[in-house]
Amino acid sequence: MEIGTNDVLVFAVNGKRYEVSSDSLHPSTTLLHFLRSHTPFKSVKLSCGEGGCGACVVLQSTYDPVHKQVTSCTVNACLTLVHSVNYCSITTSEGLGNSKIGFHPIHERFAGFHASQCGFCTPGMCVALFSALVNAQEKQGPDPPTGFSKLTVAEAEKSIAGHFCRCTGYRPIADACKSFASDVDMEDLGINSFWKKGESDEAKMSKLPSYNPKDDICTYPDFLKSELEAAMCLNINGKSWHSPLTLKELERSIETNMVTATTKSRLVAGDTGMGFYKALDHYDNYIDLKKVSELSSIKRDHTGIVIGAAVTISQAVLALNEEGEGVSSFEGELIYKKIASHLKKIATESVRNSGSIGGNLVMAQRSSFPSDIVTILLCVGSKVNLITDLRHENLTLDEFLSRPSLDQRSVLMNIHIPCRGSLKYSFSRETQPDTRILFETYRAASRPLGNALPYLNAAFLAVVSSVDNGVVISEIQMAFGAFGTKHAQRARMVEKYLAGKFLNSDILYKAVKLIREDVVPEQGTSDALYRSSLAVSYLFEFLYPMVKNGTAVTNSWLTENTELLSRNRNKQEKDSEYDSMRKPTLLSSGKQVIQSRTEYYPIGEPITKSGASIQASGEAVYVDDIPSPTNCLYGAFIYSTQPLARVKNIRFISNLLPEGVSSVITCNDIPPGGQNIGSKSVLGTELLFADDLTECTGQRVALVVADTQKHADRAASLAIIDYETENLESPIITVEEAVEKSSFFEIPTFLRPAQVGNFSKGMAEAEDSILSTEIRLPSQYYFYMESQTALAIPDEDNCIVVHSSSQCPEFVHKVIAVCLGIPENNVRVITRRVGGGFGGKALKSMPVATACALAAQKLCRPVRMYLNRKTDMIMAGGRHPMKITYSVGFKSDGKITALHLDILINAGFSPDVSAIIPGNMIGVLKKYDWGALSFDIKLCKTNHSSKSAMRGPGEVQGSYIAEAVIEHVAFTLSLEVDSVRYRNLHTFDSLKLFYEQSAGELVEYTLPSIWDRLGMSSNFKQRIEMNELFNRDEIWRKRGLSRVPIMMPVTMRSSPGKVSILSDGSIVVEVGGIELGQGLWTKVKQMTAYALSSIQCDGTADLVDKVRVVQSDTLSLIQGGITSSSTTSESSCEVVRICCNILVERLVPLKESLQVQMTPLNWHSLILQAHSRGLSLSASWYFVPDSNFSRYLNYGAAVSEVEINILTGETSILQADIIYDCGQSMNPAVDMGQIEGAFVQGIGFFMSEEYLTNADGLVVADSTWTYMIPTIDTIPRQFNVEVLNSGHHEERVLSSKASGEPPLLLAASVHCATRAAIKEARKQYHAWSKLVMFDSMFDLAVPATMPVVKQLCGMDSVELYLQSLLSTSRKNQL
Ligand SMILES: Cc1cc2nc3c(=O)[nH]c(=O)nc-3n(C[C@H](O)[C@H](O)[C@H](O)COP(=O)(O)OP(=O)(O)OC[C@H]3O[C@@H](n4cnc5c(N)ncnc54)[C@H](O)[C@@H]3O)c2cc1C
Ligand code: FES
Ligand code: FES
Repeated sequence: MEIGTNDVLVFAVNGKRYEVSSDSLHPSTTLLHFLRSHTPFKSVKLSCGEGGCGACVVLQSTYDPVHKQVTSCTVNACLTLVHSVNYCSITTSEGLGNSKIGFHPIHERFAGFHASQCGFCTPGMCVALFSALVNAQEKQGPDPPTGFSKLTVAEAEKSIAGHFCRCTGYRPIADACKSFASDVDMEDLGINSFWKKGESDEAKMSKLPSYNPKDDICTYPDFLKSELEAAMCLNINGKSWHSPLTLKELERSIETNMVTATTKSRLVAGDTGMGFYKALDHYDNYIDLKKVSELSSIKRDHTGIVIGAAVTISQAVLALNEEGEGVSSFEGELIYKKIASHLKKIATESVRNSGSIGGNLVMAQRSSFPSDIVTILLCVGSKVNLITDLRHENLTLDEFLSRPSLDQRSVLMNIHIPCRGSLKYSFSRETQPDTRILFETYRAASRPLGNALPYLNAAFLAVVSSVDNGVVISEIQMAFGAFGTKHAQRARMVEKYLAGKFLNSDILYKAVKLIREDVVPEQGTSDALYRSSLAVSYLFEFLYPMVKNGTAVTNSWLTENTELLSRNRNKQEKDSEYDSMRKPTLLSSGKQVIQSRTEYYPIGEPITKSGASIQASGEAVYVDDIPSPTNCLYGAFIYSTQPLARVKNIRFISNLLPEGVSSVITCNDIPPGGQNIGSKSVLGTELLFADDLTECTGQRVALVVADTQKHADRAASLAIIDYETENLESPIITVEEAVEKSSFFEIPTFLRPAQVGNFSKGMAEAEDSILSTEIRLPSQYYFYMESQTALAIPDEDNCIVVHSSSQCPEFVHKVIAVCLGIPENNVRVITRRVGGGFGGKALKSMPVATACALAAQKLCRPVRMYLNRKTDMIMAGGRHPMKITYSVGFKSDGKITALHLDILINAGFSPDVSAIIPGNMIGVLKKYDWGALSFDIKLCKTNHSSKSAMRGPGEVQGSYIAEAVIEHVAFTLSLEVDSVRYRNLHTFDSLKLFYEQSAGELVEYTLPSIWDRLGMSSNFKQRIEMNELFNRDEIWRKRGLSRVPIMMPVTMRSSPGKVSILSDGSIVVEVGGIELGQGLWTKVKQMTAYALSSIQCDGTADLVDKVRVVQSDTLSLIQGGITSSSTTSESSCEVVRICCNILVERLVPLKESLQVQMTPLNWHSLILQAHSRGLSLSASWYFVPDSNFSRYLNYGAAVSEVEINILTGETSILQADIIYDCGQSMNPAVDMGQIEGAFVQGIGFFMSEEYLTNADGLVVADSTWTYMIPTIDTIPRQFNVEVLNSGHHEERVLSSKASGEPPLLLAASVHCATRAAIKEARKQYHAWSKLVMFDSMFDLAVPATMPVVKQLCGMDSVELYLQSLLSTSRKNQL
């Protein structure tokens, strides 16, 4: 088709031209879908599909032919419609560089700083950093030093803000980003494979992969510039996509396309709203607003700024920050700057780059979206211009919001933001120098830098004057939003009350009382009380400095008036005084201490993770990256929304088969001889599909198979299951109900943990006791970045090949064979790499692969499935929730003499691996010497999805319970909790009593020395003292510090392996363990190189580069087992060592005979000779660990320090210091990554990840909008980790120990530190309240979210504080 006609779409991807007929693609096709299915570029990953995670971020460049200027920014490919990228150039991570043309320094530095583990998030992160580098080049100012960019360290970190990584804990990613910043201190860059500690800055610089911004890749190819310049027509007008360029064209387009009754049309700007609504509705026509010039302009005049509705949030930020031509007043500019700064906290940069201001307002108007923009603009009295049926209307934002929902034909044209707000009070700065406008905005959200919707947002605008001894408010406008009403609203009652008032504590107190009446969430809003308490807090934060500071109205007052928290002294000065031991921090900085060892070279070297560069460039192949075979079909699960019901029928809305559907597979499709089985462990099985009875919400009922994944997902969402519950008992939802009905799973004897000592005797020795105290712990979702996926391809002779993203392909294999009723040698399961597992890709991967295999076998076509995030979250099960009741006896010095626990574990409806949980829990709980320990643990069978192993399964709960008990004892005795912990640490004798099988030798018991070492290295004592001072001086911020030890037994398991040496000397290794991102392949490579180097000939020193570990193939290497419990790397290494030793043994005689003729003999010649002489150069083995030594203990400890904000309940982790004993680490960089990543995942469990379900148990925290995993702005600001090499451990694999799971348990220290800070807040609250008994022991829920913390600090703390001030002043007056 001819270029330039208006129904052809032209764009470039990584410099390659793409031309597509507009009508050949449905207008709802996303750029992500196009890239992944129509181009070879697979680096653009699908993880959430809702703009929330950053895995799909690409660079979008546009060209302005008039100014000859290229502009680039990141966008989310999952939300960008491909039709909207006409004449754009898209750059993906492969486009930055790759294995063929050479990697980009970004890729190399991500690899070298160990910033990629599973790699699923890495390409998106690389592109985000690249965009920051490209845009930094545009900045004014001097050139950066050679090798650096103009980017600052702070900007470098922020470039990945809002992006998710579930593996690394972010610190290494931040380091990779910072390494490009011109102001970086090389000392601050963490562990990497470029340089060794102690080298000079110059030496370090020279070893970094070189970067020259001027040589960077071209983001907009010349051919596209020429085409664009020559193009006759820039807009697309296909059958279903219309992009008008002028208002007239837009009106015409609406007339023609929107009026018909048979077609559905929509207006679209950035289409980011789809990330929230995820509507799978079908529209026939899309009208693109982005190119309409009237909607894309920004105008400034003396009245303010008029922003076109299609202007993106990022463009608006730039405009608002521009020094104001036309905007006359100083106040106006500051107001705009503050609005801009608030807008920068909305979503992520990539969403802001395409989401429009108008789109946001319409979402709020039409669908009550909890918008930030509306609240802020409402406060400053903005107006909007709206066109409906060719009629223009100017409306105040209030009027706009209170209209009935806009219809699809109404177009929001622009928004006018007045420069001084809409204040009626007028004054002149010259004649009234003591009068000022004040403006401030607020938002309370679980992530400070955005990418989390607020619990409440607010903006305040006031005219105030200083009078003799205080401040008078002439006028005030206050808006609150996102707190659970249809729209944002003004707090008119309080505004009226405050206008004209002289501000003092009494007035403020009354205003605060009134605000509670003005800001009332609608019934059913979650955390309603918390949200209204935030309104009080923000009002207080805005006004109180004026009450306090009285007459000090200066020019700087405007900007500083809300620095409430530092009102006594200069904030920085004061903070640095308290933080003298802590370096000034960015979002994150850290120190890593490792010790390399050379004895088993290259074992012990922190070498780069195998495959890290191709992960960064996006060339690494995950299951969904395998191209679909011809004829491939796609599946989506239809799941139950009832906890217990008979399934009568499955049908679709309107009883029509949805578009593209070819089949609906149920248990009736299991072939004769097969079984309805979806997963299997030694403890039991789970059905693939519910038969006539569904036993939990989220249970698979059917698989709908369609021609595309989108059609399959849409069909599944349109499915209706007809249920019947007659004569069925009520479902068991709670553990209490399970007890009532005696609904339990059996715990096999071999998994039952043993009691220690005699509880009654222990209690008799106690001087005090706490009886029957209850704790509840919730579930946690895995949030692997790659959701569950599989591809099944039927093969000849009734065979099937299944690619599965699984931690246990061997078991997937068995389940498929049983389900299909075919022999196991007809099945082959292949797993190359897994985009994060954390236990969730063990049993839970089986039904996904099995359902694909069943459908493929039935339909005789390949079938693949990639679960969308919502379905994955609903079906995954996750960590085991539980209820614990404890009774503990102790002496007055804190020594515990007896502990009894009653534990009810909610296991869900099928056995899964739940029976391991009791043993795991007790295994770590025994980290303290309890004197006597007894327990009664029940595995409750309930009508919930089956809970499965998640990183530290049972162990994280056990470790936490131990800390909760210790804290309670310390509280009861009014003792320092740290001393009670220490008092109860094991002696080696008690350790042997509690851990008969795994205590090991005395020298191996390193916990006491770790405890002391950490005390010193973290300055524990001094910081406790500093915090006491801080807590004494500060009213609204409190700090807490906590040191927590861990002890975790792990067990080595059997593992197969095979090592083959090819004729060119390169080596191929197969192991049972799966590469999940944990660095298993890297350690295996190091072990292979080490073990083969014992042949001792030339060229063995760099064997590590010759080793390739290949994908797991269940027919090539059988008995692979399950990759879990932290020890698979060790077993895989050990079996490889044995295989290598066999090969060395075979090669030695040849080597000796050759050495007579050839000196020096090199590796290559030796292997060539071995091949030509027919020596077998492939060895395989099955390693079975010696049962006497297969179980051992891991040790570590952490000190965490947090600061809570009493006004908002926000917790910031100021510092975390960890020491973790890795025995002798095989690769300290890999182990460091495991420690940091696990710790941050633990922070998620303890602090932010709320696993919410409805009354039927259906997961409602089912998206990135509702489930808050940590991001870079929520990790410890100072993160110090020492990988301790504790020495020689005879029975371990080259003295190494596990690192994958135990460090997660250390995150309990953050929770304990939060409790310590809350305790301080409660003391203060108690002092204010006098009468209220508030200083009793309190239960701090897990996770300790903002509402939870705020509630414990007092929802009415502001009122109480003001009351206490008032009563003191009254007393003083008497
Ligand atoms: C991950 C994520 C996080 C977010 N977080 C926040 C947040 O914290 N705070 C916040 O305030 N917002 C947040 N948002 C919302 C974001 O600001 C909006 O999605 C965005 O501004 C919408 O603009 P758009 O151009 O993409 O609109 P679109 O998605 O194109 O349109 C949205 C709706 O408005 C209609 N529409 C668009 N423009 C017009 C117009 N000019 N006239 C008439 N109808 C129109 C469309 O038909 C559609 O119904 C978030 C969004 C995402 C994806
Ligand atoms: S997949 Fe696009 S942001 Fe998550
Ligand atoms: S490496 Fe970031 S999600 Fe796995």
